[in-house]
Amino acid sequence: MKSSELQSIKQRYNIVGNCEALNHALDVALQVAPTDLSVLIVGESGVGKEIIPRVIHDNSPRRREKYFAINCGSIPEGTIDSELFGHVKGSFTGAINDSPGYFGVANKGTLFLDEVGELPLATQARLLRVLETGEYIPVGATEVRKTDVRIVAATNVNIRQAISEGRFREDLYYRLNSIPIQIPPLRDRGEDIVLLFRLFAMQMAEKYRMDKIVLTEEAKLMLMRYKWPGNVRQLKNITEQISILSTERQITPEILARFIPQDQETTQLATIHNDGDHSFENEREILYKILFELRSNVNDMRREMSTLKKQIEDVKTVPSTTVPASSTIPTIPTIPTTAPLEDAIAEEYVEPVKEPENLNLDAWSRQALEKALDRNGGNRKKAALELGISDRTLYRRLKQYGLDK
Ligand SMILES: Nc1ncnc2c1ncn2[C@@H]1O[C@H](COP(=O)(O)OP(=O)(O)OP(=O)(O)O)[C@@H](O)[C@H]1O
Ligand SMILES: [Mg+2]
Repeated sequence: MKSSELQSIKQRYNIVGNCEALNHALDVALQVAPTDLSVLIVGESGVGKEIIPRVIHDNSPRRREKYFAINCGSIPEGTIDSELFGHVKGSFTGAINDSPGYFGVANKGTLFLDEVGELPLATQARLLRVLETGEYIPVGATEVRKTDVRIVAATNVNIRQAISEGRFREDLYYRLNSIPIQIPPLRDRGEDIVLLFRLFAMQMAEKYRMDKIVLTEEAKLMLMRYKWPGNVRQLKNITEQISILSTERQITPEILARFIPQDQETTQLATIHNDGDHSFENEREILYKILFELRSNVNDMRREMSTLKKQIEDVKTVPSTTVPASSTIPTIPTIPTTAPLEDAIAEEYVEPVKEPENLNLDAWSRQALEKALDRNGGNRKKAALELGISDRTLYRRLKQYGLDK
């Protein structure tokens, strides 16, 4: 395969990396694409297996036909046979119509069976049959159907071990594995790690219109020495975390150390540490502040809504010109001043009014404000606290009633 051809494939699919093993994997994918041979893509979790079947399909004579990617691990055991091979109406509860299943609809196209190691044994038997003969029987059917589907499968589990434990059929493994494609783990890709970091950093900078983070020379070395148990997916997550959380754009090993797990065997992502003199505390504080701000905005909105609702009810029940008799005025409960902020509905906090006949809701609200201010010697903060509203809401109301002078 000419290297220019390989480069154009990488560009087309946004695949970054030049290491020998990755180039070889792409090379095999392109060579096997024009055939109908089954392909098994193997590699650890997060290495980038999912793009390969697409490359194979798009470069095969089936490119104009259907392509389906099915995650075998995410389909419940009870329905996987019917999803893959279809069913006939009435074959089980809920089978209200015939269904062709993926093998029916993908006829002449390509099926990507991701996480194939998760298939139940009964489904493995059906799959083997369709791979060998092109025949299958939908659930509940008696007649055999024919299909012409190219299978590309992928797994991150050790299939040989699954075979030895009786969880995977050996014959199916050999049938799927006509052409194996091994995607290398990230730790073996040398400088590709830095190239991938640069790609993800650039994507973040573009997406969020921020300055791109760049690695110092020492930080590059650190990334290349790390084991990357979660592979490219982990590198992508970490680059995204740093892009968002680091106040520095020049990334040093010290900054990296805060994001990369210390225990290199672990597959977990870095948690945010608050030790040392870094500003994570501040960052967390900022997030908390934003959350609190949001919460009090929501509370304000709830109060506004409640007032509006009441006003609408009033309009519905109160004749427009005359003031109703006291019995028709909705009773407004008194909320103790100790009520939690979110539970207190400011406009509902009203001093028991002796003669409310001449007052509308706005006037009540205004009166409550004036009284609260009176009681607190004009101190707005205290008045707001007593009314269970935010300073901002109090200020807005004062302005509304012309009491802000
Ligand atoms: N060479 C690469 N260039 C650019 N992005 C890549 C590359 N390899 C992987 N990625 C990105 O890394 C992420 C993980 O890849 P992918 O989902 O294909 O992993 P996987 O091998 O299928 O993992 P799993 O077995 O856990 O499903 C994806 O966001 C993918 O786009
Ligand atoms: Mg995957």
